[in-house]
Amino acid sequence: MGTVVILGVFVADTAYRADRMPRMGETVMGNSFALGPGGKGSNQAVACARIGAQTHMISRLGQDDFGKLALDTWAEAGVIAHVQQTTESYTGAAYIFIEETSGDNAIIIAPGAAALISEQDIEDHAELIRSADVFVTQLEQPMEAAVRGLEIARAAGVTTVLNPAPATTLPDGMLALCDYVTPNETECEALTGVAVQTSGDAQKACDVLIALGVSRPIITMGEQGAYLSGHGLVPAVRAGDVVETTGAGDAFNGAFAAALAEGLTPERAVQIGCATAGISVTRKGTAPAMPTRTEVDALL
Ligand code: RIB
Ligand code: NA
Repeated sequence: MGTVVILGVFVADTAYRADRMPRMGETVMGNSFALGPGGKGSNQAVACARIGAQTHMISRLGQDDFGKLALDTWAEAGVIAHVQQTTESYTGAAYIFIEETSGDNAIIIAPGAAALISEQDIEDHAELIRSADVFVTQLEQPMEAAVRGLEIARAAGVTTVLNPAPATTLPDGMLALCDYVTPNETECEALTGVAVQTSGDAQKACDVLIALGVSRPIITMGEQGAYLSGHGLVPAVRAGDVVETTGAGDAFNGAFAAALAEGLTPERAVQIGCATAGISVTRKGTAPAMPTRTEVDALL
C-alpha cells in the first residue's frame, strides 16, 4: 500500500439539475437538488483511498455543519485528516449547475476557510509530506500553499502531481516542481495556448509543458480518455450511461496517485485513473460517486 498526501479543498456541493441555465435576471424551474461532499482535493482523496492508498488530506474547515460533513466523509472513506478548524470563516460550498440532457456542469466555488490555507500550514505538515510516496495538489486553495507543498515534496524526492484546476495562470517555475501535471483541455489551453482536440494537439501541448519543466504531462480529454506524454492516448472506459461528469477529473487524479504510490507504471496508473473516472460519471455526485478498487479492477 502506498502513501499519498493531498493538499486541497473540501466544499459542500449543492447540485441543481435543470434543462438549461437561467439567463441573468431569469428564474428557471429545476428538476432536482442534492447536497453532498465535494471540493477537488477532497474528492481526489476519497477516490485515492477507495483505490487503496493510505491517504492523508491537508486542509482547513470552518466549525460548522459542512465542516462536520467533511470529517464524516473522510472518516467513512478512510482518509486521514490533517485539518485546522477555524472560527474565522465558514466551510466552503459550491454551486453546481448540471444540464439534464448532457450531464455537463458549470460551477461556482466559494472556498471559505480553505482560502486561509497558508504556507505555514504546509510547513507544519512538512514531515508528513516528506514521508509520502506521492504528493498531490490542485489550485482551489491559495497558490503559495500549493507551491510550498510541491517544493517540500520535490526536495524530498516524493513524486509530485499537480492537477492545475480550476484553469488559471501559474507562477514562474511552478511547473518545474512537477513530475506529472494533469490538465483537462480547458486547463491545458490556459497553460500552453494549445487548443487540444486530437492526440497530435495533446502531444504538442505536452511538449510545451515539458519545456516548462514538467517531467511527464497527462492531458485528460473527457470521453476520449487521457493522453500520457510519450505513450499516447489511453482510451476512456465506458461503464454505463453518463449521468453526471462533475468530479470525473478528481476520480482520475485520486486513482492515478494511488496507483503510482503502489509502484505501478504510469501507463497502468493512467488506465486505472480512466476506469475510475469512467465509473464515476455513471453516478450522481462527486465524492459519493467514487468506485472501490474491486469495481475498477472488474472493468480492466
Ligand atoms: O471537480 C469537481 C469539484 O469542483 C466539485 O466537487 C466542486 O466542489 C468543485 O470544487
Ligand atoms: Na458523478
